[in-house]
Order: sequence, then C-alpha cells, then structure tokens
Amino acid sequence: MDRLVSERGGVHRKEVRLLLAQGRIHIDGRPADSINQAVGPFTRVTLDARVLQANKARYVMLHKPSGVVSATRDKQHKTVIDLVSVPYSSELHIVGRLDFNSTGLMLLTNDGRWSRSLSDPQNNIAKTYRVLLEKALDDSYVKAFADGMYFDFEGVTTRPAELRILGQYEAEVDLIEGRYHQIKRMFGRFDNRVKALHRTSVGSLSMAAGPALGQWRELTLSELDLLGLEHCCLSPTE
Ligand code: URA
Repeated sequence: MDRLVSERGGVHRKEVRLLLAQGRIHIDGRPADSINQAVGPFTRVTLDARVLQANKARYVMLHKPSGVVSATRDKQHKTVIDLVSVPYSSELHIVGRLDFNSTGLMLLTNDGRWSRSLSDPQNNIAKTYRVLLEKALDDSYVKAFADGMYFDFEGVTTRPAELRILGQYEAEVDLIEGRYHQIKRMFGRFDNRVKALHRTSVGSLSMAAGPALGQWRELTLSELDLLGLEHCCLSPTE
C-alpha cells in the first residue's frame, strides 16, 4: 500500500505513515489501517479526494470466428481483441489461445490471477472441443488420448484426455491443458488431419449460453462463481 500511495500520490514513502494516521488514505471505501495493507490490482485506493487506483475486473466470453488471430496485436489480421469493441479492450489478455481457423469459446480478462488458475492443469478445468476429421475414427483413438502422448518438442507427455466418438469423422475431446496445437498434433499421430475445431466449453461455461459468432459479452457473477475459481469483485447485478 505505501509504495502505491507514494508512487501515484507523489509523496515520499515516509509521509505515507502520516497520511495514514490522519485517515486520509482509503482502501475500498474504508480508512486504511496499516502501511503494509495488501493492495491488489483491483483494490480502490484514494488519497483525500484523489483516486490513485480504480481498476475494474473484466471477464469476457467471445465466440471466436475463423480467420481471427488469438493475439492482442497483429499487422495482417483482425485479432480477438479487435472484436471486443469497448475502451477497456486493450487491458485484456487471452486465456488459452485458439488457432487462426479454430472457432468457439474464448475467454479474455484483465485478472492475471484468474487466467493463471484457469490455465493451471492442477485445477482440472476441462476445455471441450468438437473436432471434424479427414479420416474415419476408431476405438484405438480413445485409449491413445487417455494414455497421453509424448511430445518430443516440449519433452512432456500429455495429460489423460477424454475422447468421445460422435460419428465416423467427428469426436469430442476434453483437455485439461492447452499445449501448442495440441489437438491437431494428437490427431496428427494417426495421420488424421483436423478439418474443423470448435471449443464448446471451458469448465461450466458453455458456448450454448454464449454469444453469436463474432460477438462477445461479459460473464455474469453467477457464471464466475459456478466456475469455482477465485475471481474479483463484481457486484451481484453484474
Ligand atoms: N488444439 C489445437 O490444435 N488448436 C486449437 O485451436 C486448440 C487446441
């Protein structure tokens, strides 16, 4: 707290103690009670009438179309950030990329802690993909996905993934990690090219309740709670 007040308030670090004793520093609307009070990225901090920090946490779900890059900036193509047409879009980062031609559920946020927990395989949040393949599937795929595959480039074995055969050329796959081109590389082991890839859900968040192709919306408080990861401070009406 004292570093933030000193840097943004333009006061010497030693003076912060005095401001604190005078009750001039407020944290989330209450007088600060210690120089060492923890201040997160979304904590509101004021000095007298001056707002020193007031960042709102943002959690966005986007229905990514094909032909859009999962990046914050790109010289050639439209990015997923370009699709979120609000002033705060430049603060957002991507949680789990989708390839240029992949479609479906994409999450964006400015809450680094939330995005790290979502991507952390320890938290077991399944990402589900619908996959359309060039060649016919058979039961041997199910075991190979469940056993994991060794990826030479990273020197790792993929975590158990559940594959459900939906049709001769169609499968649904649950991953709890997100390695580079993971699905394409896994089907690549069978020399079977992925023709289309669509992320249908991430944990309890489903594209069924999602926006139309190319559209986005903010997640609701109940969606965030249901997902089960620690998140920041939306009001019950959000
Ligand atoms: N795996 C892939 O190969 N591509 C994606 O876009 C997502 C997962």
